[in-house]
Amino acid sequence: MNSLKRVVLFGATSAIAEQTARQLVAQGASLYCVGRNRDKLTALIDDLKVRAIDHQRIYGCVADLTDIAQHAHLIEAAEHILGGIDSVLIAYGTLPDQKACQLNASMTRQEIETNALSVINLLTLLANEFENQQRGVIAVISSVAGDRGRQSNYVYGAAKGMLTLFLQGLRNRLAKANVDVVTIKPGFVDTPMTAKFDRSGLLWAKPEQIAKGIIKAMQDGKSEVYLPWFWQGIMLIIKHIPELIFKRMSL
Ligand SMILES: NC(=O)c1ccc[n+]([C@@H]2O[C@H](COP(=O)([O-])OP(=O)(O)OC[C@H]3O[C@@H](n4cnc5c(N)ncnc54)[C@H](OP(=O)(O)O)[C@@H]3O)[C@@H](O)[C@H]2O)c1
Repeated sequence: MNSLKRVVLFGATSAIAEQTARQLVAQGASLYCVGRNRDKLTALIDDLKVRAIDHQRIYGCVADLTDIAQHAHLIEAAEHILGGIDSVLIAYGTLPDQKACQLNASMTRQEIETNALSVINLLTLLANEFENQQRGVIAVISSVAGDRGRQSNYVYGAAKGMLTLFLQGLRNRLAKANVDVVTIKPGFVDTPMTAKFDRSGLLWAKPEQIAKGIIKAMQDGKSEVYLPWFWQGIMLIIKHIPELIFKRMSL
């Protein structure tokens, strides 16, 4: 089982990451939490410190992660403060307004930058660190949306699909260095990101449930996990619908 004693969370104030942080602290982890919103991050760190016991270290750092010039420094600071890194979880992201993106090329580019290119920048730096230390876990929250492009969210889907494919290659490279690369693919999760949707159906999950699945996948060194599990079956069907039919569907 992989050690999750010293963990770095990028996008720590996301609802899913917050729940993951709480569960990790309950299991004895020390955390370095990077978040964009200072107030939310302060509240999170205060909450985690109350839950932690003496030897656990809980640190926070404010950063906009599209500012890629900060990435190397953030990794260095986390390593220094935690005394090494066992694992990272990259959890930040935005859900673009698909219709607005269709009318605005620079908004589309910005969304791809946030959800894919900035993450890939971070992963490139992290991969070299983890390859050198010859152990550890790199986990990233992608999405079921990255499995197939759909008219209702293909900007987001394309960014997540790029991440999924990048992680697949990275996993193949880092397996030789004893580093696990874990792709997390949640379905519909009840978080601020999805606040504008009707979240009452059976397919909706709570962030606590997703957090539990993320930690288990990281500990077990899984390659790809669908969360909750039933999305694997749903996406298997969706991926296999012939394009001739799929392009006529309103999804
Ligand atoms: N909710 C779902 O149904 C669902 C499904 C599949 C995958 N996911 C993925 O799960 C992850 C977590 O999302 P969530 O559902 O927990 O939503 P959330 O609570 O809205 O979290 C998104 C987080 O990303 C942060 N963020 C956005 N841009 C950033 C930037 N440039 N730099 C640093 N942080 C930035 C936000 O920070 P601020 O607080 O400053 O805005 C926020 O904390 C995302 O990658 C999302 O794509 C979510």
